[in-house]
Amino acid sequence: MSDSNASLTVGGATKDYAVMDGTVGPQVIDVRKLYANTGMFTYDPGFTSTASCDSGLTYIDGDAGVLLHRGYPIGQLAEQSSFMEVCYLLLNGELPSKGELDKFITTITRHTMVHEQLTTFYRGFRRDAHPMAIMCGVVGALSAFYHDSTDINDPAQRTIASHRLIAKMPTIAAMAYKYSAGQPFVYPRNDLSYTANFLRMTFSVPAEEYEPDPVIVDAMDKIFILHADHEQNASTSTVRLAGSSGANPFACIAAGIACLWGPAHGGANEAALNMLREIGTVDKIPEYIARAKNKDDPFRLMGFGHRVYKNYDPRATVMQKTAKDVLEKLGVNDPVFDVAKELEQIALNDPYFIEKKLYPNVDFYSGVILSAIGFPTEMFTVLFALARTVGWVAQWNEMISDPAQKIGRPRQLYTGPTERDYVPVDKR
Ligand code: CMC
Repeated sequence: MSDSNASLTVGGATKDYAVMDGTVGPQVIDVRKLYANTGMFTYDPGFTSTASCDSGLTYIDGDAGVLLHRGYPIGQLAEQSSFMEVCYLLLNGELPSKGELDKFITTITRHTMVHEQLTTFYRGFRRDAHPMAIMCGVVGALSAFYHDSTDINDPAQRTIASHRLIAKMPTIAAMAYKYSAGQPFVYPRNDLSYTANFLRMTFSVPAEEYEPDPVIVDAMDKIFILHADHEQNASTSTVRLAGSSGANPFACIAAGIACLWGPAHGGANEAALNMLREIGTVDKIPEYIARAKNKDDPFRLMGFGHRVYKNYDPRATVMQKTAKDVLEKLGVNDPVFDVAKELEQIALNDPYFIEKKLYPNVDFYSGVILSAIGFPTEMFTVLFALARTVGWVAQWNEMISDPAQKIGRPRQLYTGPTERDYVPVDKR
């Protein structure tokens, strides 16, 4: 709590509201008493000025292009850490010792198999179902398979559910891919790392073993780190809101997956690559820049702009370098990468994008990398969901452990009809 107060005068009466300090970042005005004091609500569609909770996980300074997990800059984590270590950090608050990390990896590895009956669940979907549709259904169904970890008031069950979700998500995601490709499911292998195991479950077939290339494993691991958490974004807020009613963790994560699917959120990497492919060649770029600037055209430059970042998304910096490494390693000469680099340069020097502070976001280059590795575009958001699961789970745990936690219940400005009498159908 800060020493200062904010005063608000309504109808001649002035009331003070406490100003609260975080460890870093903007202060917030505590308006919890506002309705009791004034009979008024605040109006903030899209929550652009509202802190919905306090959280110790992730800090973003969108103007400076800073992203910290538990205080550690995302660039350092992506370059020096591993996804498993970042998972531990997000869940537990501190980087693990060697022993703690080994134990955590063993625990996650031992939970990667899914209940065998879950495999039959997939067959209820059409083969051409979008893998995100399958993810929503299958992850939601986990609560029907793992009854022993759905009591949210038991910290031990919450921990098991968290480990299960992180461990099983690669298996479930790879199975969603295999189902749509018409290939048999591949079981996890405990001698492989989290990320290598996922790549093998996705790309191996009984007729031919897939040997994960260390450069590709490293790139994939970085992509997972870059997507692990992002404070109170739409899907995370969805998970928290769903969880605030006491819903079980599997149901909450399924809700997060549904929200992530949208093209303004997790679906943007798929949309960005589709856009780059549609542009096709560098000479077409001006036409698309003009469309993005035209108010009468709904077209937006996908992979550009962000609700929070009004500067270069720090995740995009790592992503661009990773794209270069992967394409070089695979010997892929994808013209889409050239279009992406050129489009970025043109947009960064265009007054429209400069004035509106529109910079490349994490999704601008990720599609180029994922496509080079061999993922079809429909899988991109699935990979995002896989990586973001740890963030969702950590945020959900933080909320449930908070004694001040309440059911989420936003208010509204009602604009519908005032009270009127019902008219029977023959009198209308
Ligand atoms: N291309 C062209 N114009 C844009 C774009 C864009 N990509 N993004 C924003 N603008 C314009 C927008 O038209 C508006 O103009 P005006 O002030 O004249 O009305 C202005 O910039 C502000 O835009 P906004 O919609 O108010 O900004 P927002 O913070 O509500 O939206 C966004 C953020 C991410 C939804 C939006 O920038 C967008 O749609 N980008 C493309 C989709 C995308 O790449 N999404 C991935 C986000 S990063 C992944 C994640 O964290 O989930």
